[in-house]
Amino acid sequence: MTQFSRITGTGSYLPPRRVTNADLAAQLAATGVETSDDWIVERTGIRARHFAEPDVTSSELGVHAARNALEAAGRQASEVDLIIVATSTPDMVFPSSATILQHKLGVGGCAAFDVQAVCSGFVYALTVADAMIRTGSARCALVIGAEVFSRILDFSDRTTCVLFGDGAGAVVLEASDTPGILASDLHADGKHVGILCVPGTLSGGKVLGEPLLKMDGQAVFKLAVGVLESAARATLAKAGKTEADIDWLIPHQANIRIMQGTARKLKLPMDKVVVTVDQHGNTSAASIPLALDSAVRSGQVKKGDTLMLEGVGGGFTWGAVLLDF
Ligand code: UT7
Repeated sequence: MTQFSRITGTGSYLPPRRVTNADLAAQLAATGVETSDDWIVERTGIRARHFAEPDVTSSELGVHAARNALEAAGRQASEVDLIIVATSTPDMVFPSSATILQHKLGVGGCAAFDVQAVCSGFVYALTVADAMIRTGSARCALVIGAEVFSRILDFSDRTTCVLFGDGAGAVVLEASDTPGILASDLHADGKHVGILCVPGTLSGGKVLGEPLLKMDGQAVFKLAVGVLESAARATLAKAGKTEADIDWLIPHQANIRIMQGTARKLKLPMDKVVVTVDQHGNTSAASIPLALDSAVRSGQVKKGDTLMLEGVGGGFTWGAVLLDF
C-alpha cells in the first residue's frame, strides 16, 4: 500500500513579551531611531510582535510548540521517531537545536536535525519529513519552526528591526494510508545571497564580519511575489489541482502587501488567506506553523480543508506544500 503522510496535530508558542509598534517606536526613539505605528502598519501590516527574554532560546520556544502539537495529535514524545527543526537562529553553532529540543522533550534515540532555509525553512522541513515517511524511514515526525530573530536584529536600522519577531510552531506528521501532503515544490537561487543575510562568520572563536541581519527590502519584495505565485502553481500542477481547490492559503507572514499580491495573482480572495503577520511580525521559519496553528485553534481551518503553505526567504529560497488537513 502506498504510504502517505498527514498532519495529525498542530501547536505553537509565543514568548510572553508582546511589543506593539508604539512600544517599539518609543524604545527606538530613545536611541535616536525614528519610526511610527502608522508607517509600520501601512507598509507591512504589522501591529505587534513578541520578543523572547535574553536567556530563552529557539529550542525552548520550540519545545513548548512541540508539546502542544503532540497533545493535539494525542501522541507521546516517546512515539516520535524523527525531529526536524527549521531555524536560522539555533541555540548553538552545534549541536543542532533539534537534538537539544529532543532532550528537553525527555526522549532520545530518534533522528533529529536542523534545516536551514531561513523563512522557507518550514516548507523545506515538512517536505523532508514527508519524503522520509513516504520512503519508510519514519512514521511519526515532529516538524518545528522556531526562531529568536530578535537576537540578530540591528536596532539602529529601522528598515529591518521593525519587521521581525520571535516564536515557534510545530506539527506532528504521521504515516497514513490516505494523503495528507499532496505535493510540494522547493527552490533556491544562491545568486541572491546578498539581498537578505547575516553575513558574519566564526573564526578563531570570534565573530568575523557582520552578525546582524541585512536586507534589501525592495529586492526581496519584488522577488517574493513572483516566486510565491510560481511555486503555488507548480505545486497545484503536480497534485492535479487548481487554485479553486485551495480552501486556505497560508503564506509566510512577512508583509501583508506581499500576501495580498500573491493572493491577487492566484485569484484568491483575502478571506481565504490566513493572516497573523499583524500580531506576530515576521518570525521566519516559525511563521507558517504559527499561522497554521492559530487558524486551526480559531476554527478557521477545519479537518479536510485543502491548504497551500508557502515560504520565501534568504538564500534566496522558496517553496510550497499543498496538503489535505
Ligand atoms: O522573510 C522575507 C523577509 N523580508 C521581507 O519580506 C521584506 C520585503 N520587503 C518589504 O516588506 C518592504 O520593502 C519594507 C517593509 C522593508 C519597506 O517598505 P517599502 O515600501 O519598500 O519602503 P522603502 O524601503 O521604499 O522606504 C520608504 C521610506 C524611506 O524613506 P525615504 O527615502 O522615502 O525618505 C525609508 O527610509 O520609508 C522609510 N522607512 C521608514 N520610515 C519609518 C524605512 N523604514 C522605516 C521605518 N519607519 N521603520
